[in-house]
Amino acid sequence: MARPTRRRGNLPAEATSFVGRRRELAELRKKLATVRLVTLVGPGGVGKTRLAIRIGTDLARAFPDGAWLVELADVRDPALVGNAVLAALDLRDQAATEPRALLLSHLRDRKLLLLVDNCEHLLEAAAQVVTDVLRSAPGVRVVATSREPLSVTGEHVIPIPPLELPRAQGDETLDQLRLNESVELFTERAAAASGRFELATSNRMAVVEVCRRLDGLPLAIELAAVRTRVLSVEQISDRLSDRFGLLTGGSRAALPRHQTLRTTIEWSHDLLKPEERALFRRLSAFAGRFTLDDVASVCAFDDVPPATVLDLLSSLVDKSLVLKDEVQGIACYRLHESMREFAGLRTREAGEEEAVELHCVDHYVSEGRRNAAQARYRLVAWLGWMDVEIDNIRWVLRRCAVREDVARGTALAVDVGWYWITRATTEGVRWLDELLTMGPGDPASHAGGLFMRGFLALLQADPVAARPLLERAADAQREAGRPGPLVNALAMASIAADMTGDRASARRLRDEAECVAAGFENVEA
Ligand SMILES: Nc1ncnc2c1ncn2[C@@H]1O[C@H](COP(=O)(O)OP(=O)(O)O)[C@@H](O)[C@H]1O
Ligand SMILES: [Mg+2]
Repeated sequence: MARPTRRRGNLPAEATSFVGRRRELAELRKKLATVRLVTLVGPGGVGKTRLAIRIGTDLARAFPDGAWLVELADVRDPALVGNAVLAALDLRDQAATEPRALLLSHLRDRKLLLLVDNCEHLLEAAAQVVTDVLRSAPGVRVVATSREPLSVTGEHVIPIPPLELPRAQGDETLDQLRLNESVELFTERAAAASGRFELATSNRMAVVEVCRRLDGLPLAIELAAVRTRVLSVEQISDRLSDRFGLLTGGSRAALPRHQTLRTTIEWSHDLLKPEERALFRRLSAFAGRFTLDDVASVCAFDDVPPATVLDLLSSLVDKSLVLKDEVQGIACYRLHESMREFAGLRTREAGEEEAVELHCVDHYVSEGRRNAAQARYRLVAWLGWMDVEIDNIRWVLRRCAVREDVARGTALAVDVGWYWITRATTEGVRWLDELLTMGPGDPASHAGGLFMRGFLALLQADPVAARPLLERAADAQREAGRPGPLVNALAMASIAADMTGDRASARRLRDEAECVAAGFENVEA
């Protein structure tokens, strides 16, 4: 029988044009011929991710098993770094094998390029996973991106500078200027935004000034360039100079790069209408990608009416403050992590952190419930939804645990149970163990949690652990008089008993299940 063909990589198509970086690409290519771990290091917005994806795309053919991107930006929990790598590689943690062992055995004989993006907030965990992979998989090479090096043996650090700057004197010809990386990026993004922008003798000095003022930082240049839709480059240049002048006391001294980016984000933010600002800051509620419906439900309150959300969000996309994205064919949005940090700060300043967090928890708990039925009948579509939302769901589970909102946390962990069953058994076990030991919360979700936890234990081939959980689940359902879930718990407990070799108990549990089911069907009929 023909083996199903596995995908040979998961690199996203580039949504905007790629500019320059010949030198960095050549250096990377050369390094990767001899070195197995290269880390691209630089401040937020300097272009590390773009460069990593570009080198991955260029080199994918050189690796028989392709190039794979692991995005860590939205992962908050260091314990989930290995799971993120598994998920990126299309592997399922659903067997008795521990995820790390599964990952290493999969990679052992592969020849592939692994891009591990955004390691800075999980340095230790990322370093550990990368070290394990390099040690046990000789055919794997890794390109990591991070604001700081991973500091592991064998790491080769390449500092990523901003884009090349035009000369201050502005004495280059137009043709020379067009070849300059910063100028090229500005021109490309301005033309895409306004449809008719061209570099000309009349605006060249202003373009040079903006690029230099923004220190060649691609993210900052993009924020400035899209404003050519309504402002001339001279106006953009003047306004940026005013703002930076305030910070540097009028001198032209360069700021540290994170401050240059922060100031540019602030400038772009201050040009927004008040309701755009409100929506933008509230988007920091999402730990990961989000859909239009999510935004309407979590961020539309007070001064942001639900009917305006689509227009406001589109406007933020036009201004490069929000990125449009697609996961499994589902349209969604996300924030560059530098934007999310800024938006989070503004949410705290506005005193909205608590409100936004509560909306977010409410939204995902009720979406989890609403979609749970779909999980059983339309699993593929449901998993697509989960792939978009998993980082938000994780964050909400964490919030519930921190707030000791055991009832809702457990209910959500149970409602997304098919994700643990099909994709991430070990993670599901961890969430349920944490929530179930916090106390019963509410009886129905506790009983559901015990059942799901027992089910996952069976998937891990651990019937000894599964049995008492499933029997407790059955007791709770019997007591609450819920025949449907009781039948499920009894049937599953019977399987667990059978697996431990206790045939007598297995039969007794099965008999009770049949008896309850018969009564149940009579009632239903
Ligand atoms: N070489 C490049 N060509 C075109 N756009 C770029 C380039 N480098 C960065 N950008 C753009 O600048 C922004 C920030 O880049 P990104 O790679 O996300 O930075 P980092 O990963 O360092 O935070 C993105 O919108 C990206 O598309
Ligand atoms: Mg990045």
